[in-house]
Amino acid sequence: MADKSATLTIDGTEYELPVLSPTSGPDVIDIRKLYGQAGVFTYDPGFTSTASCDSTITFIDGDKGELLHRGYPIDQLAEKSHYLEVCYLLLYGELPTAEQLEDFETRVTRHTMIHEQMHNFFRGFRRDAHPMATMVGVVGAMSAFYHDSTDINDPWQREVASIRLIAKMPTIAAMAYKYSIGQPFVYPRNDLSYAANFVHMCFSVPAEPYHVDPIVARAMDRIFTLHADHEQNASTSTVRLASSSGANPFACIAAGIACLWGPAHGGANQACLEMLREIGTPDRIPEYIARAKDKEDPFRLMGFGHRVYKNFDPRAKVMKQSADEVLELLGIENNPTLQVAKDLEAAALADEYFTDKKLFPNVDFYSGIILEAMGFPTSMFTPIFALSRTIGWVSQWKEQLADPHHKIGRPRQLYLGDTTRDYIEIENR
Ligand code: ACO
Repeated sequence: MADKSATLTIDGTEYELPVLSPTSGPDVIDIRKLYGQAGVFTYDPGFTSTASCDSTITFIDGDKGELLHRGYPIDQLAEKSHYLEVCYLLLYGELPTAEQLEDFETRVTRHTMIHEQMHNFFRGFRRDAHPMATMVGVVGAMSAFYHDSTDINDPWQREVASIRLIAKMPTIAAMAYKYSIGQPFVYPRNDLSYAANFVHMCFSVPAEPYHVDPIVARAMDRIFTLHADHEQNASTSTVRLASSSGANPFACIAAGIACLWGPAHGGANQACLEMLREIGTPDRIPEYIARAKDKEDPFRLMGFGHRVYKNFDPRAKVMKQSADEVLELLGIENNPTLQVAKDLEAAALADEYFTDKKLFPNVDFYSGIILEAMGFPTSMFTPIFALSRTIGWVSQWKEQLADPHHKIGRPRQLYLGDTTRDYIEIENR
């Protein structure tokens, strides 16, 4: 794969470094042997210029605003496909035949319940616990319940763990929600689609029948699809790093959920809607734009900016269109939050600060508006992201384990602390 090379000169000595060419995207300088040959490290906090692995799952061209899963553009998948088909594509590399899809859906559907004893875990949390806190704990606890799928060296166990995670995550997210509002848990219904079942588990109560609105189910499925994978983002890299030590799949995915929770990553959808509500009316937008530009103020426009996209996030485009459709279909007219979002987007995109820094709305800018219209509280936005992203984490985890060259992830550092010094007895300090 290396038919080019780069030359690095350090103190007059030249080092030849192989350059690897991907199928798409920029070339990559292979520095794996650099320390052995030259005795130096590279320095790249935040991995802004570092490829941590090779992968065949997802490709992003941040300048074009392009997102491909196994080569298929996200807008085509959002329009023509559905979440479980995209899960199959991410996991196995190809779109399924009708027979393969049916088999996959059956396998996922037959794993939707969680071990009954796990209900006690939920009851151990305070009622006001954030559902993400509950999810981190309960998903980590899965390793204490599903011992028959924790051997990462057994391909069959890896497969079972993958299916279990995809199947059970909606049940866990819905139970975290039900617990937080003091309602009884609702068991999964395997006659419903993946998305409709999740909506049913969140909004139905045992006391009366509940009909899932197909508009809501379709919108939910689209939100799942748009969040399914995003190559080596922070939470996926966390899953890969945790897994590199040989940790079991449930522990690795719990680590991914913990990372996703932060407001710079998946937590941005909750933070974004809270910001839009705080702004409240379009006349207050200039004040918030000014704050976002003020270097003395830590405030940032939530749902704006992205490490990779320096153009429109293609998922945000679909999400914006979806927000319009869903609100119209649900008969919600003149939604003030949607209006503030649209005006804020227009104001930011007309402002040089944002255009010069290439800050555009990301996927989280509009997703919260749809989720709010469906009836979800803001605390459920990030859990919904986590359940959607589980397929991405699982696919990347499986890919990593199947790579015969994978190693424990162990970054180096630029040490700036004290050099060796002698211990001082306490009475002499
Ligand atoms: N509002 C105002 N200014 C911003 C914003 C923002 N949302 N995002 C970046 N900037 C500015 C920074 O202040 C910085 O300015 P400077 O060069 O003058 O110092 C410049 O743009 C570059 O920002 P960085 O933080 O260096 O960019 P980075 O790639 O590290 O961060 C991130 C990307 C974390 C997404 C950032 O844009 C951000 O904090 N956005 C808001 C949170 C958010 O929406 N996160 C969701 C990300 S998508 C996802 O996880 C689904």
